[in-house]
Amino acid sequence: MEAFRIVGGARLAGEVRVTGAKNSVLKLMAAALLAEGTTVLHEVPHILDVEYMAELLRRLGCVVVHDVPTRTVSITVPEVPFHKADYDLVRKLRASINVLGPLLARCGEADVALPGGDAIGSRGLDMHVAGLERLGATVRSEHGFLIATRAERLHGATVWLDFPSVGATENLLMASVLAKGTTVIDNAAREPEIVDVCGLLLSMGAQIDGVGTSTLEIEGVESLAPAEHTTVPDRLVAGTWAVAATMTRGDVTVRNARADHLEIALDKLVRAGALVDELDDGIRVRCYDRPRAVDVVTLPYPGFPTDLQPQFIALNSIARGAAMVTENLFEARFRFVNEMVRLGADVRTDGHHAMVRGKQSLSGAPVEAADIRAGAGLVLAGLVADGVTMVFEPHHVDRGYEGFVADLVRLGADVARVSVNELA
Ligand code: EPU
Repeated sequence: MEAFRIVGGARLAGEVRVTGAKNSVLKLMAAALLAEGTTVLHEVPHILDVEYMAELLRRLGCVVVHDVPTRTVSITVPEVPFHKADYDLVRKLRASINVLGPLLARCGEADVALPGGDAIGSRGLDMHVAGLERLGATVRSEHGFLIATRAERLHGATVWLDFPSVGATENLLMASVLAKGTTVIDNAAREPEIVDVCGLLLSMGAQIDGVGTSTLEIEGVESLAPAEHTTVPDRLVAGTWAVAATMTRGDVTVRNARADHLEIALDKLVRAGALVDELDDGIRVRCYDRPRAVDVVTLPYPGFPTDLQPQFIALNSIARGAAMVTENLFEARFRFVNEMVRLGADVRTDGHHAMVRGKQSLSGAPVEAADIRAGAGLVLAGLVADGVTMVFEPHHVDRGYEGFVADLVRLGADVARVSVNELA
């Protein structure tokens, strides 16, 4: 059994660098399936989810080489990949669902195990299915698999998404680039990671208009060619460091961070009392006083990201004043609040809302990370808690944060990854 052991009280100061975004690179790896040959991706983070996706692609017949020191992944895709993604990998990595669109377009069939719910909520697939059906696919659920087939080439169509779902937008995008005719995805998600996927697809020869807007227009082409692409920096990791700097009244420079991808979150930190400087290749975040509490409402991009919500609950829990945090994307993302309460936080939830009353300090305790971002939020809380905080299940955090402990130590935190027996 492992845990992050954190002794609270350090002020974080120094520099860290963020690599490519997890939520982009997993999709870029899936997009490689769209072309026979070798696609090369740069700035690939060394995190568990990338290893899972590499394993999935290998099982689909690809040769995947991850050169960790150069942060490069090359994916050699055969003429006809296999089309089945089994449950043992899909359960570890929900982004496996992103192979559905590319496999359907390339192979004529995709069998992807249903990922099921996870610790942050039910996470439906209805928009993925309805969209693919509009493009001419037949989709059925059988023995725990989502099976999508097409009799002939997919055809262009207009798809109106009920909600700007990141995953559905990506699957439809990746299916439609090889469809016959024009596809319009209306109410599309427009996260920077989607813009990044569009960037790779354009380099592969796809024709996409409206990149970065909520209406994507795709003119299908007969085939795509492999390409080389540098992954967009991880705004969520960068945002986590920015919150950590503010909470610890520190001074942290985050190299390779894109301030333009974090506008609302950085504005919230400024309102909380931080000083944020935009640098040529990153951001510097400083804070000299106890932060002020700030209200937060999660929404699809460019709204406030749900993946920074736990970190802002942690910030508000030691801030001056009280704040309302509203979660609109994942119904179970407030489950981690119980762990915050174990640390002495004053947080009360009611449906979508969490009322956080800031306290002078938190009190170190053993807590459990249920997902990546909850884990990050708990680590931040541990940094400002009195005494020792143990964050169990650290592997969740490993899924999204490369070298988290090493970076924290470099910034001056007293943090270690420890093995503990059940009774410790
Ligand atoms: N939804 C449906 N039906 C669908 C699709 C989505 O009901 O067909 C619902 C979901 O259940 C959820 C909401 O719509 O309540 C948002 O889902 P979305 O499809 O936008 O999210 P996702 O693609 O499953 C990605 C990220 C998440 C991030 C969300 C929102 C990846 C691998 N995951 O998930 O990241 O929170 O977008 O921005 O890209 C994380 O990194 O920790 C993480 C959970």
